[in-house]
Amino acid sequence: MNLIEKAIQIKNQALEALKKVVVPSSLEDFYNQYLAKKGEIPGLMTHMKEAEDKAAYGQTVNATRNEVLDAYMSKKAEMESAKLNAKLKSEVLDITLPGTEEEIGSLNPYWMVIREVEDIFLSMGYEVVKGRDVETDHYNFELLNVPKDHPSRDMQDTFYFSPELLLRTQTSASQAHKMCEMTEKKPIRMISPGKAYRRDDDDMTHSHQFAQIEGLVVDRNISIANLKGTLELFAKKMFGEKREIRLRSSYFPFTEPSVEVDVSCFNCGGKGCAMCKGTGYIEILGAGMVNPKVLEMCGYDPKEWSGFAFGVGVERVAMLRYCIDDIRRIYQNDLRFLKDFK
Ligand code: DAH
Repeated sequence: MNLIEKAIQIKNQALEALKKVVVPSSLEDFYNQYLAKKGEIPGLMTHMKEAEDKAAYGQTVNATRNEVLDAYMSKKAEMESAKLNAKLKSEVLDITLPGTEEEIGSLNPYWMVIREVEDIFLSMGYEVVKGRDVETDHYNFELLNVPKDHPSRDMQDTFYFSPELLLRTQTSASQAHKMCEMTEKKPIRMISPGKAYRRDDDDMTHSHQFAQIEGLVVDRNISIANLKGTLELFAKKMFGEKREIRLRSSYFPFTEPSVEVDVSCFNCGGKGCAMCKGTGYIEILGAGMVNPKVLEMCGYDPKEWSGFAFGVGVERVAMLRYCIDDIRRIYQNDLRFLKDFK
């Protein structure tokens, strides 16, 4: 067998061997045996000196190398695409299968009311002030013109930790804090949402823990017209453009005069229905002109300053707004109830 025949024999051997390769590791072995630098095919060149027809031998060796390399490359590509196809097949997703729905929570109506009231007053330039649940008798009562023996204390049956420390019975304590905190006495426009506590027995309309939003404006020349205008705007934004308010005289120790504010019934428009108990109006909040004694105790000279204040019951507004029949629902965290507010 001459050298050319020998080269052709190696080529045929290589092509046969390649056919039997099925796994990547034997493909690598194949490459090392035949095509790598020290493999059989490059090795053919070492016999060049012995070849009779050097040109023909050189061409045969080149052709052999090219043919085997081409076959090797296409085998390699074939194996890689088979591997990729297998991977794709194993990772296939059936996007037509019905999905599992993620449960997304919703805001409790309590927070919906607080956020809405905050938005309304922020848009009027008020700041939102955080109060504290644990208060002193001084801020919760004394500074609000409710001395120790004052009869109105009976109406706000209090949880006491000690004679001086208590759970606040009203967010009005935030008014006193705000005014006292102002070292340099400047105008105030604030609301302060938060919890209040009273020793009430829980029933459909009472809860020992509830939320209020306190409002306070202090400036020069504030009159009851400012109070009425502000609360009218609030009522319209909260309960609808057609709403009207009316003020009924009332009593709170920290305001003088004091009023109870009613809004025309958003259910019947004022004609009279079950919701407004036939009166055409629904009571929504208490308010009044800040009592000069309170201004004075909190460091605002009543000869120079005046103000108005109001307090809204959050649950009451939520109950009217969303037709909730029992205040306890707001606190029970029953998902069937909460889902209605999505
Ligand atoms: N603090 C009162 C209450 O809990 C509500 C209230 C009434 C707040 C009149 C005020 C106000 O600021 O001016 O019943």
